[in-house]
Amino acid sequence: MIHMTGICKAFSSNQVLNGVEFELKNGEIHALMGENGAGKSTLMKILSGIHQKDSGSITVDGQEKIFKNVRDSEACGIHVIHQELNILPDLSVAENLFLGKELTYGFGILKRKEMQRQTYELLCKLGLDIDPKTRAGDLSVGKQQLVEIAKAIASDAKYIVMDEPTAALTDREIQTLFETVRELKSKGISFVYISHRMEEIFAICDRITILRDGQYAGVRNIPETNFDEIVAMMVGRELGERFPERNANIGEVKLSVRNLSASKAFDNVSFDLRKGEVLVFAGLMGSGRTEVAQTLFGHRKAQQGQIHIDGQSVSIKNPIQAMRHKIAFVTEDRKTEGLVLDFSIRDNIMLPNFDKTCRAGITQIQAEREFVQSFIEQLAIRTTNAELAAKSLSGGNQQKVVLAKWLGTDPDILILDEPTRGVDIGAKKEIYNIINQLAEAGVAILMISSELPEVIGMADRVLVMHEGRMTGEVTQENMTQEHIMHFATGGEKHVLH
Ligand SMILES: Nc1ncnc2c1ncn2[C@@H]1O[C@H](COP(=O)(O)OP(=O)(O)OP(=O)(O)O)[C@@H](O)[C@H]1O
Ligand SMILES: [Mg+2]
Repeated sequence: MIHMTGICKAFSSNQVLNGVEFELKNGEIHALMGENGAGKSTLMKILSGIHQKDSGSITVDGQEKIFKNVRDSEACGIHVIHQELNILPDLSVAENLFLGKELTYGFGILKRKEMQRQTYELLCKLGLDIDPKTRAGDLSVGKQQLVEIAKAIASDAKYIVMDEPTAALTDREIQTLFETVRELKSKGISFVYISHRMEEIFAICDRITILRDGQYAGVRNIPETNFDEIVAMMVGRELGERFPERNANIGEVKLSVRNLSASKAFDNVSFDLRKGEVLVFAGLMGSGRTEVAQTLFGHRKAQQGQIHIDGQSVSIKNPIQAMRHKIAFVTEDRKTEGLVLDFSIRDNIMLPNFDKTCRAGITQIQAEREFVQSFIEQLAIRTTNAELAAKSLSGGNQQKVVLAKWLGTDPDILILDEPTRGVDIGAKKEIYNIINQLAEAGVAILMISSELPEVIGMADRVLVMHEGRMTGEVTQENMTQEHIMHFATGGEKHVLH
Protein backbone atom coordinates (compact mmCIF):
# COMPACT_ATOMS: atom_id res chain seq x y z
CA MET A 1 0.00 0.00 0.00
CA ILE A 2 1.17 3.51 -0.83
CA HIS A 3 0.24 6.49 1.26
CA MET A 4 1.10 10.05 0.30
CA THR A 5 0.15 12.69 2.81
CA GLY A 6 0.49 16.46 3.09
CA ILE A 7 2.32 16.68 -0.23
CA CYS A 8 3.35 20.22 -1.20
CA LYS A 9 5.24 21.31 -4.27
CA ALA A 10 5.99 24.66 -5.85
CA PHE A 11 7.75 25.46 -9.12
CA SER A 12 9.39 28.77 -8.24
CA SER A 13 6.44 30.95 -7.18
CA ASN A 14 3.77 28.62 -8.58
CA GLN A 15 2.33 26.50 -5.74
CA VAL A 16 1.27 23.43 -7.71
CA LEU A 17 0.40 21.02 -4.88
CA ASN A 18 -0.80 22.04 -1.48
CA GLY A 19 -1.36 19.40 1.21
CA VAL A 20 -2.42 16.58 -1.11
CA GLU A 21 -3.52 13.19 0.24
CA PHE A 22 -3.38 10.04 -1.81
CA GLU A 23 -3.76 6.41 -0.82
CA LEU A 24 -3.34 3.40 -3.09
CA LYS A 25 -4.41 0.04 -1.70
CA ASN A 26 -3.08 -3.24 -2.98
CA GLY A 27 -5.07 -4.64 -5.89
CA GLU A 28 -7.20 -1.57 -6.51
CA ILE A 29 -7.62 0.62 -9.55
CA HIS A 30 -7.61 4.16 -8.30
CA ALA A 31 -8.64 7.06 -10.52
CA LEU A 32 -6.97 10.43 -10.18
CA MET A 33 -8.99 13.25 -11.66
CA GLY A 34 -8.84 17.01 -11.77
CA GLU A 35 -8.85 19.85 -14.26
CA ASN A 36 -5.90 20.57 -16.53
CA GLY A 37 -3.11 21.87 -14.37
CA ALA A 38 -4.66 20.59 -11.13
CA GLY A 39 -1.41 18.77 -10.37
CA LYS A 40 -2.10 15.12 -11.24
CA SER A 41 1.02 14.51 -13.30
CA THR A 42 3.15 16.44 -10.82
CA LEU A 43 1.89 14.29 -7.93
CA MET A 44 2.78 11.16 -9.86
CA LYS A 45 6.18 12.56 -10.81
CA ILE A 46 6.83 13.02 -7.12
CA LEU A 47 5.80 9.43 -6.52
CA SER A 48 8.23 8.28 -9.20
CA GLY A 49 11.13 10.38 -7.94
CA ILE A 50 11.31 12.71 -10.96
CA HIS A 51 10.33 15.72 -8.85
CA GLN A 52 11.12 16.20 -5.16
CA LYS A 53 8.33 17.20 -2.83
CA ASP A 54 8.83 20.33 -0.72
CA SER A 55 7.06 18.74 2.24
CA GLY A 56 4.81 15.83 3.16
CA SER A 57 5.54 12.15 3.36
CA ILE A 58 5.32 9.01 1.26
CA THR A 59 5.07 5.56 2.82
CA VAL A 60 5.08 2.19 1.09
CA ASP A 61 3.67 -0.64 3.22
CA GLY A 62 3.99 1.60 6.27
CA GLN A 63 7.64 2.50 5.72
CA GLU A 64 8.60 6.10 5.03
CA LYS A 65 10.39 6.48 1.70
CA ILE A 66 12.39 9.20 0.07
CA PHE A 67 12.55 8.92 -3.67
CA LYS A 68 15.51 10.85 -5.01
CA ASN A 69 15.22 9.42 -8.50
CA VAL A 70 13.31 6.95 -10.61
CA ARG A 71 15.50 4.05 -9.53
CA ASP A 72 14.47 4.58 -5.89
CA SER A 73 10.77 4.34 -6.70
CA GLU A 74 11.26 1.40 -9.06
CA ALA A 75 12.96 -0.44 -6.22
CA CYS A 76 9.61 -0.22 -4.38
CA GLY A 77 7.79 -1.65 -7.38
CA ILE A 78 6.43 1.67 -8.66
CA HIS A 79 6.30 2.16 -12.41
CA VAL A 80 4.93 5.34 -13.96
CA ILE A 81 3.82 5.50 -17.57
CA HIS A 82 3.95 9.19 -18.33
CA GLN A 83 1.54 11.31 -20.28
CA GLU A 84 4.31 12.19 -22.70
CA LEU A 85 5.58 8.76 -23.66
CA ASN A 86 9.11 7.68 -22.95
CA ILE A 87 9.58 5.28 -25.82
CA LEU A 88 12.86 5.74 -27.67
CA PRO A 89 11.78 5.86 -31.29
CA ASP A 90 15.05 4.64 -32.81
CA LEU A 91 15.27 1.49 -30.72
CA SER A 92 13.34 -1.66 -31.49
CA VAL A 93 10.34 -2.66 -29.42
CA ALA A 94 12.37 -5.38 -27.68
CA GLU A 95 15.24 -2.97 -26.96
CA ASN A 96 12.79 -0.52 -25.45
CA LEU A 97 11.27 -3.20 -23.25
CA PHE A 98 14.59 -4.31 -21.87
CA LEU A 99 16.23 -0.90 -21.70
CA GLY A 100 18.54 -0.80 -18.69
CA LYS A 101 17.63 -4.40 -17.83
CA GLU A 102 19.16 -6.19 -20.80
CA LEU A 103 19.60 -9.93 -20.57
CA THR A 104 23.20 -10.91 -21.20
CA TYR A 105 25.40 -13.98 -21.37
CA GLY A 106 27.91 -11.99 -19.32
CA PHE A 107 30.77 -9.90 -20.75
CA GLY A 108 28.12 -7.54 -22.17
CA ILE A 109 26.98 -10.02 -24.80
CA LEU A 110 23.26 -9.57 -25.26
CA LYS A 111 20.75 -12.39 -25.39
CA ARG A 112 18.97 -10.79 -28.32
CA LYS A 113 16.91 -13.78 -29.37
CA GLU A 114 15.77 -14.42 -25.80
CA MET A 115 14.77 -10.81 -25.27
CA GLN A 116 12.86 -10.85 -28.54
CA ARG A 117 11.12 -14.08 -27.55
CA GLN A 118 10.04 -12.71 -24.17
CA THR A 119 8.91 -9.48 -25.77
CA TYR A 120 6.83 -11.38 -28.28
CA GLU A 121 5.16 -13.42 -25.54
CA LEU A 122 4.32 -10.34 -23.54
CA LEU A 123 2.95 -8.51 -26.56
CA CYS A 124 0.79 -11.51 -27.43
CA LYS A 125 -0.67 -11.40 -23.94
CA LEU A 126 -1.63 -7.80 -24.60
CA GLY A 127 -3.24 -8.85 -27.86
CA LEU A 128 -0.57 -7.08 -29.89
CA ASP A 129 0.69 -8.58 -33.08
CA ILE A 130 3.94 -6.67 -33.34
CA ASP A 131 7.33 -7.93 -34.45
CA PRO A 132 9.68 -7.23 -31.49
CA LYS A 133 12.30 -6.06 -34.01
CA THR A 134 10.06 -3.22 -35.26
CA ARG A 135 11.46 0.25 -34.74
CA ALA A 136 9.32 1.71 -31.93
CA GLY A 137 8.95 5.05 -33.70
CA ASP A 138 7.19 3.29 -36.59
CA LEU A 139 4.31 2.21 -34.33
CA SER A 140 1.15 4.24 -33.88
CA VAL A 141 0.98 6.29 -30.69
CA GLY A 142 -1.60 3.81 -29.41
CA LYS A 143 0.69 0.86 -29.95
CA GLN A 144 3.58 2.72 -28.33
CA GLN A 145 1.37 3.22 -25.30
CA LEU A 146 0.72 -0.51 -25.09
CA VAL A 147 4.44 -1.18 -25.41
CA GLU A 148 4.95 1.09 -22.39
CA ILE A 149 2.44 -0.97 -20.48
CA ALA A 150 4.21 -4.15 -21.52
CA LYS A 151 7.39 -2.56 -20.19
CA ALA A 152 5.79 -1.92 -16.81
CA ILE A 153 4.61 -5.50 -16.66
CA ALA A 154 8.05 -6.76 -17.67
CA SER A 155 9.64 -4.86 -14.82
CA ASP A 156 7.45 -6.74 -12.30
CA ALA A 157 5.86 -3.57 -11.04
CA LYS A 158 3.44 -3.80 -8.11
CA TYR A 159 2.09 -0.30 -8.57
CA ILE A 160 1.52 0.96 -12.09
CA VAL A 161 0.60 4.57 -12.77
CA MET A 162 -0.99 5.31 -16.13
CA ASP A 163 -1.17 9.00 -16.95
CA GLU A 164 -3.87 9.36 -19.62
CA PRO A 165 -3.14 6.03 -21.26
CA THR A 166 -6.12 5.95 -23.59
CA ALA A 167 -5.86 9.42 -25.10
CA ALA A 168 -4.57 7.94 -28.36
CA LEU A 169 -5.91 4.40 -28.28
CA THR A 170 -8.52 2.84 -30.52
CA ASP A 171 -11.61 1.33 -28.92
CA ARG A 172 -10.23 -2.14 -29.45
CA GLU A 173 -6.90 -1.18 -27.87
CA ILE A 174 -8.77 0.29 -24.92
CA GLN A 175 -10.64 -2.96 -24.45
CA THR A 176 -7.38 -4.91 -24.57
CA LEU A 177 -5.86 -2.54 -22.07
CA PHE A 178 -8.81 -2.87 -19.70
CA GLU A 179 -8.72 -6.66 -19.86
CA THR A 180 -5.02 -6.61 -19.08
CA VAL A 181 -5.50 -4.20 -16.21
CA ARG A 182 -8.29 -6.30 -14.70
CA GLU A 183 -6.21 -9.44 -14.98
CA LEU A 184 -3.22 -7.83 -13.29
CA LYS A 185 -5.48 -6.41 -10.61
CA SER A 186 -6.69 -9.91 -9.78
CA LYS A 187 -3.03 -10.76 -9.17
CA GLY A 188 -2.78 -7.97 -6.59
CA ILE A 189 -1.20 -5.27 -8.76
CA SER A 190 -2.51 -1.75 -8.10
CA PHE A 191 -3.12 0.95 -10.66
CA VAL A 192 -3.39 4.69 -10.61
CA TYR A 193 -5.50 5.68 -13.56
CA ILE A 194 -5.49 9.26 -14.81
CA SER A 195 -8.04 10.13 -17.46
CA HIS A 196 -10.40 12.91 -18.44
CA ARG A 197 -12.90 10.41 -19.79
CA MET A 198 -15.53 9.83 -17.16
CA GLU A 199 -16.95 6.77 -18.92
CA GLU A 200 -13.62 4.98 -18.48
CA ILE A 201 -13.36 5.87 -14.82
CA PHE A 202 -16.74 4.29 -14.15
CA ALA A 203 -15.91 1.28 -16.30
CA ILE A 204 -12.70 0.28 -14.63
CA CYS A 205 -11.92 2.07 -11.37
CA ASP A 206 -12.69 1.14 -7.75
CA ARG A 207 -12.03 4.49 -6.10
CA ILE A 208 -11.33 8.04 -7.20
CA THR A 209 -9.26 10.84 -5.68
CA ILE A 210 -10.02 14.32 -6.92
CA LEU A 211 -7.65 17.29 -7.01
CA ARG A 212 -8.78 20.83 -7.40
CA ASP A 213 -6.24 23.51 -8.11
CA GLY A 214 -3.44 21.65 -6.35
CA GLN A 215 -5.59 20.84 -3.34
CA TYR A 216 -7.04 17.54 -2.22
CA ALA A 217 -10.79 17.67 -2.88
CA GLY A 218 -11.67 14.22 -1.57
CA VAL A 219 -11.84 10.51 -2.26
CA ARG A 220 -14.92 8.43 -3.21
CA ASN A 221 -15.81 4.81 -3.85
CA ILE A 222 -16.84 4.59 -7.49
CA PRO A 223 -20.09 2.68 -6.88
CA GLU A 224 -21.17 5.36 -4.41
CA THR A 225 -20.58 8.42 -6.55
CA ASN A 226 -21.76 9.76 -9.89
CA PHE A 227 -20.81 12.00 -12.79
CA ASP A 228 -22.28 15.18 -11.32
CA GLU A 229 -20.68 14.78 -7.91
CA ILE A 230 -17.24 14.22 -9.43
CA VAL A 231 -17.56 17.21 -11.75
CA ALA A 232 -18.68 19.41 -8.88
CA MET A 233 -15.69 18.31 -6.77
CA MET A 234 -13.35 18.92 -9.68
CA VAL A 235 -14.47 22.35 -10.77
CA GLY A 236 -16.13 23.60 -7.59
CA ARG A 237 -19.27 24.66 -9.43
CA GLU A 238 -22.14 23.24 -11.40
CA LEU A 239 -21.20 22.74 -15.00
CA GLY A 240 -24.66 22.33 -16.47
CA GLU A 241 -25.18 20.66 -19.82
CA ARG A 242 -22.16 18.78 -21.04
CA PHE A 243 -22.70 19.82 -24.66
CA PRO A 244 -23.95 23.38 -25.02
CA GLU A 245 -26.92 24.15 -27.25
CA ARG A 246 -26.37 25.91 -30.53
CA ASN A 247 -28.66 27.65 -32.95
CA ALA A 248 -27.56 25.93 -36.11
CA ASN A 249 -27.66 28.35 -38.99
CA ILE A 250 -26.26 26.43 -41.88
CA GLY A 251 -25.50 28.39 -45.02
CA GLU A 252 -24.18 27.68 -48.48
CA VAL A 253 -21.45 25.23 -49.38
CA LYS A 254 -18.04 26.59 -48.39
CA LEU A 255 -15.78 23.63 -49.14
CA SER A 256 -16.49 20.98 -51.67
CA VAL A 257 -14.29 17.92 -52.02
CA ARG A 258 -14.69 15.42 -54.84
CA ASN A 259 -12.96 12.08 -55.34
CA LEU A 260 -9.94 13.03 -53.31
CA SER A 261 -7.36 10.27 -52.97
CA ALA A 262 -3.91 10.02 -51.45
CA SER A 263 -1.90 6.86 -51.89
CA LYS A 264 -2.04 4.39 -49.02
CA ALA A 265 -4.04 6.83 -46.87
CA PHE A 266 -7.54 7.28 -48.31
CA ASP A 267 -9.44 6.80 -51.50
CA ASN A 268 -12.19 8.59 -53.34
CA VAL A 269 -13.36 10.88 -50.57
CA SER A 270 -16.18 13.29 -51.44
CA PHE A 271 -18.13 15.63 -49.22
CA ASP A 272 -19.47 19.17 -48.85
CA LEU A 273 -18.95 21.40 -45.85
CA ARG A 274 -21.27 24.36 -45.38
CA LYS A 275 -20.86 27.70 -43.69
CA GLY A 276 -21.95 27.50 -40.08
CA GLU A 277 -21.92 23.72 -40.11
CA VAL A 278 -20.15 21.44 -37.67
CA LEU A 279 -19.28 18.35 -39.68
CA VAL A 280 -17.65 15.57 -37.70
CA PHE A 281 -15.47 12.85 -39.15
CA ALA A 282 -15.88 9.75 -37.04
CA GLY A 283 -14.14 6.42 -37.39
CA LEU A 284 -11.55 4.31 -35.71
CA MET A 285 -7.98 5.44 -35.23
CA GLY A 286 -6.12 4.91 -38.50
CA SER A 287 -9.22 5.10 -40.71
CA GLY A 288 -7.75 7.96 -42.74
CA ARG A 289 -9.50 10.94 -41.18
CA THR A 290 -6.32 12.76 -40.15
CA GLU A 291 -4.82 12.14 -43.57
CA VAL A 292 -7.80 13.78 -45.30
CA ALA A 293 -7.40 16.79 -43.00
CA GLN A 294 -3.66 16.93 -43.70
CA THR A 295 -4.34 16.90 -47.44
CA LEU A 296 -6.86 19.73 -47.18
CA PHE A 297 -4.24 21.75 -45.32
CA GLY A 298 -1.51 20.99 -47.85
CA HIS A 299 0.51 18.82 -45.50
CA ARG A 300 0.05 15.81 -47.69
CA LYS A 301 -0.12 15.39 -51.43
CA ALA A 302 -3.34 14.38 -53.14
CA GLN A 303 -3.03 11.89 -56.00
CA GLN A 304 -6.29 12.96 -57.55
CA GLY A 305 -9.51 14.77 -56.85
CA GLN A 306 -10.81 18.33 -56.76
CA ILE A 307 -11.22 20.86 -54.00
CA HIS A 308 -13.54 23.84 -54.40
CA ILE A 309 -13.81 26.76 -52.02
CA ASP A 310 -16.77 29.10 -52.54
CA GLY A 311 -17.36 27.35 -55.84
CA GLN A 312 -13.85 28.08 -57.15
CA SER A 313 -11.45 25.29 -57.93
CA VAL A 314 -8.36 25.59 -55.74
CA SER A 315 -5.05 23.84 -55.49
CA ILE A 316 -3.53 23.52 -52.03
CA LYS A 317 0.03 22.32 -52.17
CA ASN A 318 1.30 23.58 -48.83
CA PRO A 319 0.03 25.07 -45.58
CA ILE A 320 0.81 28.62 -46.71
CA GLN A 321 -1.61 28.24 -49.60
CA ALA A 322 -4.15 26.70 -47.23
CA MET A 323 -3.82 29.66 -44.88
CA ARG A 324 -4.31 32.03 -47.81
CA HIS A 325 -7.65 30.32 -48.36
CA LYS A 326 -8.35 31.01 -44.69
CA ILE A 327 -8.12 27.38 -43.60
CA ALA A 328 -6.79 26.64 -40.12
CA PHE A 329 -5.79 23.22 -38.86
CA VAL A 330 -5.52 22.23 -35.21
CA THR A 331 -3.50 19.02 -35.35
CA GLU A 332 -4.00 16.05 -33.07
CA ASP A 333 -0.32 15.61 -32.38
CA ARG A 334 0.53 18.71 -30.41
CA LYS A 335 3.96 17.48 -29.50
CA THR A 336 5.45 17.14 -32.96
CA GLU A 337 3.22 19.32 -35.12
CA GLY A 338 1.22 21.66 -32.97
CA LEU A 339 3.70 23.30 -30.64
CA VAL A 340 7.30 24.31 -30.39
CA LEU A 341 7.74 23.19 -26.80
CA ASP A 342 10.84 25.28 -26.11
CA PHE A 343 9.23 28.48 -27.41
CA SER A 344 7.22 30.67 -25.09
CA ILE A 345 3.45 30.49 -24.98
CA ARG A 346 3.38 33.92 -26.61
CA ASP A 347 5.61 32.91 -29.51
CA ASN A 348 3.62 29.76 -30.09
CA ILE A 349 0.37 31.66 -30.32
CA MET A 350 1.96 34.34 -32.50
CA LEU A 351 3.61 31.93 -34.93
CA PRO A 352 0.90 32.04 -37.64
CA ASN A 353 -0.26 35.50 -36.54
CA PHE A 354 2.73 37.81 -36.80
CA ASP A 355 1.11 39.83 -39.58
CA LYS A 356 -1.69 40.77 -37.18
CA THR A 357 0.46 42.86 -34.89
CA CYS A 358 3.21 43.79 -37.28
CA ARG A 359 3.15 47.28 -38.72
CA ALA A 360 5.74 48.25 -41.29
CA GLY A 361 7.58 45.10 -40.31
CA ILE A 362 8.01 46.15 -36.72
CA THR A 363 6.39 43.93 -34.15
CA GLN A 364 4.23 45.84 -31.79
CA ILE A 365 5.10 44.18 -28.53
CA GLN A 366 2.21 45.69 -26.67
CA ALA A 367 -0.34 44.70 -29.31
CA GLU A 368 1.13 41.22 -29.32
CA ARG A 369 0.86 40.88 -25.56
CA GLU A 370 -2.77 41.93 -25.63
CA PHE A 371 -3.56 39.60 -28.49
CA VAL A 372 -2.02 36.67 -26.62
CA GLN A 373 -3.56 37.67 -23.30
CA SER A 374 -7.03 37.77 -24.82
CA PHE A 375 -6.68 34.12 -25.85
CA ILE A 376 -5.22 33.08 -22.53
CA GLU A 377 -8.33 34.50 -20.90
CA GLN A 378 -10.82 33.30 -23.47
CA LEU A 379 -9.56 29.72 -23.25
CA ALA A 380 -8.67 29.89 -19.55
CA ILE A 381 -5.11 28.76 -20.24
CA ARG A 382 -3.59 28.12 -16.83
CA THR A 383 -0.25 29.89 -16.67
CA THR A 384 1.35 32.59 -14.60
CA ASN A 385 3.16 34.15 -17.52
CA ALA A 386 2.88 34.02 -21.30
CA GLU A 387 6.67 34.24 -21.57
CA LEU A 388 7.12 30.75 -20.05
CA ALA A 389 8.06 27.90 -22.35
CA ALA A 390 5.10 25.92 -23.67
CA LYS A 391 6.56 22.77 -22.14
CA SER A 392 5.97 24.14 -18.63
CA LEU A 393 2.21 23.85 -19.20
CA SER A 394 0.14 20.83 -18.27
CA GLY A 395 -0.92 18.61 -21.18
CA GLY A 396 -4.41 19.98 -21.54
CA ASN A 397 -3.22 23.57 -21.41
CA GLN A 398 -0.75 22.86 -24.20
CA GLN A 399 -3.72 21.74 -26.27
CA LYS A 400 -5.44 25.04 -25.58
CA VAL A 401 -2.37 26.94 -26.81
CA VAL A 402 -2.56 25.07 -30.12
CA LEU A 403 -6.19 26.05 -30.38
CA ALA A 404 -5.45 29.69 -29.54
CA LYS A 405 -2.75 29.84 -32.17
CA TRP A 406 -5.17 28.87 -34.93
CA LEU A 407 -8.20 30.76 -33.69
CA GLY A 408 -5.97 33.81 -33.93
CA THR A 409 -5.80 33.41 -37.71
CA ASP A 410 -9.51 34.14 -37.95
CA PRO A 411 -10.27 31.23 -40.29
CA ASP A 412 -13.26 30.66 -42.60
CA ILE A 413 -12.68 26.92 -42.52
CA LEU A 414 -11.51 25.43 -39.25
CA ILE A 415 -10.27 21.86 -39.17
CA LEU A 416 -9.96 20.42 -35.69
CA ASP A 417 -8.33 17.03 -35.20
CA GLU A 418 -9.27 15.63 -31.78
CA PRO A 419 -9.38 19.14 -30.30
CA THR A 420 -10.32 18.02 -26.79
CA ARG A 421 -7.93 15.12 -26.38
CA GLY A 422 -6.47 15.32 -22.90
CA VAL A 423 -8.58 18.35 -22.07
CA ASP A 424 -10.54 18.40 -18.81
CA ILE A 425 -14.28 18.46 -18.63
CA GLY A 426 -14.61 22.17 -17.85
CA ALA A 427 -12.19 23.21 -20.57
CA LYS A 428 -13.85 20.83 -23.00
CA LYS A 429 -17.01 22.76 -22.52
CA GLU A 430 -15.14 26.02 -23.12
CA ILE A 431 -13.84 24.57 -26.38
CA TYR A 432 -17.34 23.40 -27.37
CA ASN A 433 -18.65 26.89 -26.67
CA ILE A 434 -15.98 28.39 -28.88
CA ILE A 435 -16.72 25.92 -31.69
CA ASN A 436 -20.40 26.79 -31.43
CA GLN A 437 -19.73 30.53 -31.45
CA LEU A 438 -17.52 30.20 -34.51
CA ALA A 439 -20.15 28.11 -36.27
CA GLU A 440 -22.82 30.65 -35.41
CA ALA A 441 -20.57 33.33 -36.89
CA GLY A 442 -20.52 31.34 -40.14
CA VAL A 443 -17.21 29.48 -39.89
CA ALA A 444 -17.31 26.08 -41.57
CA ILE A 445 -16.06 23.52 -39.10
CA LEU A 446 -14.64 20.10 -39.81
CA MET A 447 -13.92 18.21 -36.65
CA ILE A 448 -12.35 14.81 -36.21
CA SER A 449 -13.27 13.07 -33.00
CA SER A 450 -12.97 9.56 -31.61
CA GLU A 451 -15.10 10.17 -28.56
CA LEU A 452 -18.59 9.12 -29.50
CA PRO A 453 -20.44 11.20 -26.87
CA GLU A 454 -18.60 14.23 -28.23
CA VAL A 455 -19.35 13.32 -31.84
CA ILE A 456 -23.04 13.08 -31.08
CA GLY A 457 -23.09 16.08 -28.78
CA MET A 458 -21.45 18.44 -31.27
CA ALA A 459 -22.19 17.32 -34.83
CA ASP A 460 -24.76 18.68 -37.24
CA ARG A 461 -23.78 15.79 -39.47
CA VAL A 462 -21.34 12.89 -39.18
CA LEU A 463 -19.31 11.26 -41.91
CA VAL A 464 -17.76 7.97 -40.97
CA MET A 465 -14.55 6.57 -42.41
CA HIS A 466 -13.26 3.05 -42.41
CA GLU A 467 -9.94 1.95 -43.87
CA GLY A 468 -9.52 5.05 -45.99
CA ARG A 469 -13.05 5.19 -47.36
CA MET A 470 -16.21 7.03 -46.49
CA THR A 471 -18.56 4.33 -45.31
CA GLY A 472 -21.55 6.33 -44.25
CA GLU A 473 -23.27 9.54 -43.37
CA VAL A 474 -25.30 9.94 -40.21
CA THR A 475 -27.68 12.86 -39.87
CA GLN A 476 -29.23 14.34 -36.74
CA GLU A 477 -32.38 12.22 -36.84
CA ASN A 478 -30.62 8.96 -36.23
CA MET A 479 -27.38 9.96 -34.64
CA THR A 480 -26.65 7.07 -32.30
CA GLN A 481 -23.42 5.44 -31.20
CA GLU A 482 -24.61 2.19 -32.80
CA HIS A 483 -25.09 3.74 -36.23
CA ILE A 484 -21.71 5.39 -36.14
CA MET A 485 -19.95 2.24 -34.95
CA HIS A 486 -21.70 0.23 -37.64
CA PHE A 487 -20.06 2.36 -40.33
CA ALA A 488 -16.80 2.77 -38.44
CA THR A 489 -16.30 -0.97 -38.45
CA GLY A 490 -16.94 -1.19 -42.17
CA GLY A 491 -20.74 -1.41 -42.53
CA GLU A 492 -22.27 -1.14 -45.97
CA LYS A 493 -22.27 2.30 -47.50
CA HIS A 494 -25.64 3.93 -47.63
CA VAL A 495 -26.97 7.25 -46.46
CA LEU A 496 -29.29 7.06 -43.50
CA HIS A 497 -32.31 9.31 -43.45
N1 LIG B 1 8.51 21.38 -14.81
C1 LIG B 1 7.64 22.35 -14.51
N2 LIG B 1 8.04 23.63 -14.36
C2 LIG B 1 7.16 24.62 -14.06
N3 LIG B 1 5.84 24.43 -13.88
C3 LIG B 1 5.37 23.18 -14.02
C4 LIG B 1 6.24 22.08 -14.35
N4 LIG B 1 5.49 20.96 -14.41
C5 LIG B 1 4.22 21.33 -14.15
N5 LIG B 1 4.14 22.67 -13.91
C6 LIG B 1 2.93 23.41 -13.56
O1 LIG B 1 2.27 22.70 -12.55
C7 LIG B 1 0.86 22.75 -12.69
C8 LIG B 1 0.30 21.35 -12.63
O2 LIG B 1 0.70 20.64 -13.79
P1 LIG B 1 0.39 19.10 -14.02
O3 LIG B 1 1.10 18.71 -15.26
O4 LIG B 1 0.69 18.35 -12.77
O5 LIG B 1 -1.20 19.14 -14.26
P2 LIG B 1 -2.18 17.94 -14.62
O6 LIG B 1 -3.19 17.88 -13.53
O7 LIG B 1 -1.44 16.72 -14.93
O8 LIG B 1 -2.92 18.51 -15.92
P3 LIG B 1 -3.36 17.80 -17.32
O9 LIG B 1 -4.72 17.24 -17.09
O10 LIG B 1 -3.46 18.96 -18.27
O11 LIG B 1 -2.34 16.82 -17.70
C9 LIG B 1 0.60 23.48 -13.98
O12 LIG B 1 0.23 24.81 -13.67
C10 LIG B 1 1.92 23.44 -14.72
O13 LIG B 1 2.09 24.57 -15.52
MG1 LIG C 1 -1.10 15.65 -16.66
